[in-house]
Amino acid sequence: MQAITVQRTAAPKEKPDFSRLGFGQYFTDHMFLLHYTEGTGWHTPRIVPYGPLSLDPASMVLHYGQETFEGLKAYRADDGRTLLFRPLENIRRMNRSNRRLQIAEIDETLYLEAIKALVRADIDWVPTHPDTSLYIRPFIIATDPYLGVRASHTYQFLIILSPVGAYYPEGIDPVSILIETEDVRAVKGGTGEAKTGGNYAATIRAQVRAKEKGYTQVLWLDGVHRRYIEEVGTMNVFFSIDGRVVTPPLEGSILPGVTRDSAIRLLTSWGVPVDQRVIAIDELVEAAGAGRLSESFGTGTAAVISPIGSFNYNEQIIPVSGGQIGPLARRLYDELTGIQWGKKADPFGWTVEI
Ligand code: COI
Repeated sequence: MQAITVQRTAAPKEKPDFSRLGFGQYFTDHMFLLHYTEGTGWHTPRIVPYGPLSLDPASMVLHYGQETFEGLKAYRADDGRTLLFRPLENIRRMNRSNRRLQIAEIDETLYLEAIKALVRADIDWVPTHPDTSLYIRPFIIATDPYLGVRASHTYQFLIILSPVGAYYPEGIDPVSILIETEDVRAVKGGTGEAKTGGNYAATIRAQVRAKEKGYTQVLWLDGVHRRYIEEVGTMNVFFSIDGRVVTPPLEGSILPGVTRDSAIRLLTSWGVPVDQRVIAIDELVEAAGAGRLSESFGTGTAAVISPIGSFNYNEQIIPVSGGQIGPLARRLYDELTGIQWGKKADPFGWTVEI
């Protein structure tokens, strides 16, 4: 493996108030950089002071969005250890996204070492307040200065770090969700299952409309029939109907979430049946009307476990668990965050110490 050089900052920043972090607003003292050149491969891994990039205005990422990104977190345990949660899942997912976006894959060992070395360099930035963590954002951008549409021959891979609290202002309180009926996020064969900026750019208009109406996020329906439930803006979605948990299957248009997979494994280990199957919006409306929908929640690295208190579908309000957090969401939140913060046993071997 190539050695990672470290250039420490001469001017460390003042740290923010760790009890009032919000999400993704503060950045640490250092960042990781790696370059790719066709013929040479990925080279010159280094940690440098955090700062602006110098990019040619013709860089392909700025015009055609050839980029991928990831999101994972480092957690400070009470005993002083710093833990990553299932980092290889994110690393492998980025390489899958890279294949879809025609970007060169990165060696898993170097990638994991880069994350660890950067978090070590900024270890004082891992917050210790309850429900806070250090969000890790790796991303790759296409840097050829070229206006034709093709795969770039050069890329930059960066990792930046941000101490964070809850993603939603609601925290663990239930969020209200507007079911989007006009715009669509992705179709099978598109880039929906890749983690790439364009997927999120396409969602902003609906998100603005939802915010204007007082909703936290939108729920996406499939792009062909506008009928089958896909995912929420920044999380995968689960429903508890008739004592079984249902979540849409991974069939190409939704994000294969690491927290989604962790929730399925935890629920299954508790004996709760989980069905990964297609669920139509009319089935949800019907189940809610008949009192068979007992709870709903979203899962995501940023969103953790986020209970859903109500949906709006074509101006019809669908209340869920009386607007309260349901027992499965509560238990999942406690168990998952317990493992992540090193407070509970880790029977699946999910945490990786830095
Ligand atoms: C994450 O949960 O890590 C995400 O990437 C969602 C994000 C777009 C905030």
